[in-house]
Amino acid sequence: MINCPIYRLPGKLLQTFYGFIVIETMKDPSDLELSKEIHYFPAKHTLYDKYEKTRLYYRDVSNNFFLYKDKGITLPKIRVERCKIPQLYISESDKLESIMEMQDVFNKQIIEDIHSGNLPSVKNTLVTLMNETLSEPRSGNLQGLSKTIDTLIDGYSKQPQFFSTIATLSTNNYSTTIHSINVSAMALGLCINMGFNEKKTKEIGLAALLHDTGKIYVPNEILNAQRRLTDNEFRIIQKHPLEGYKILKGAGFSETICQVTYQHHEKLNGFGYPKGLQTNNINNASQLVGLLDFYEAITNHDRPYRRADTPIDALSIIKVCVDKGELNSDIFEAMVQYLSFSK
Ligand SMILES: [Fe+2]
Ligand SMILES: [Fe+2]
Repeated sequence: MINCPIYRLPGKLLQTFYGFIVIETMKDPSDLELSKEIHYFPAKHTLYDKYEKTRLYYRDVSNNFFLYKDKGITLPKIRVERCKIPQLYISESDKLESIMEMQDVFNKQIIEDIHSGNLPSVKNTLVTLMNETLSEPRSGNLQGLSKTIDTLIDGYSKQPQFFSTIATLSTNNYSTTIHSINVSAMALGLCINMGFNEKKTKEIGLAALLHDTGKIYVPNEILNAQRRLTDNEFRIIQKHPLEGYKILKGAGFSETICQVTYQHHEKLNGFGYPKGLQTNNINNASQLVGLLDFYEAITNHDRPYRRADTPIDALSIIKVCVDKGELNSDIFEAMVQYLSFSK
């Protein structure tokens, strides 16, 4: 590892590094932003070279923050990969803009990967984009995900197996984010297969992507528990539909999208949560996402005490739930048809 200090000569640093001329627009130390009042958030090292519009700061041993990279400058990827760059930070005032910048960067990356047919990269980028976006769900950036849904639909138009491939591509470290991406890809594919119009398809795809947003308030030790949950832990999990509803409502999403988040664990026979609603009070979009949510969870979530089910076994389990009156039989049949055609 090569140590490349780049911030020692404010105002006039020129450095030749692996063929790059690096020009830093550092200001005189007296002009530097030196405030402990402003909050700073750690930037992810893997994203250092992707910020252009976002200012990045470093922290000295006295906890003072100094400008490291101004707007309009991008850190060369090679330097980020090979230098010991200190932990960099984003100021609170730039946080929303930085997330929006990353959404743009990742949406462009997804478009490029779709064009080149690199679907594993599409999925990995989706995971990073979602994680970035959900890091500040109340800052107004969630709406940016509708652009991502447009991008995914564009991917489908170029390759009919796009959604089924994205939904089934395996990734390391199964998480709520990956689960949500899988459910969203299946929902988009199913809606198109059921002949829904574009507006409705996009709305349900976005609702599926956001359906578990409320889980950001569930502690990781509960979400990742490698054992059966206690009653108290399950009660905490059961709060995520309402928490998600509040976040999405506050972010200005449509009533359908908010209701999908609130109702996706309801069962038609009234045995679901959080309200125990019955058939007529659960909207169709919630029933569709709820069914795919169940299917995805049992086919992908491999726990020590319970192995993930194969798609055929999962459909048998869901059929039992349909016969008990818990899940919508029409949507189930459409899902079986979609899954058999999309293999
Ligand atoms: Fe959920
Ligand atoms: Fe879910």
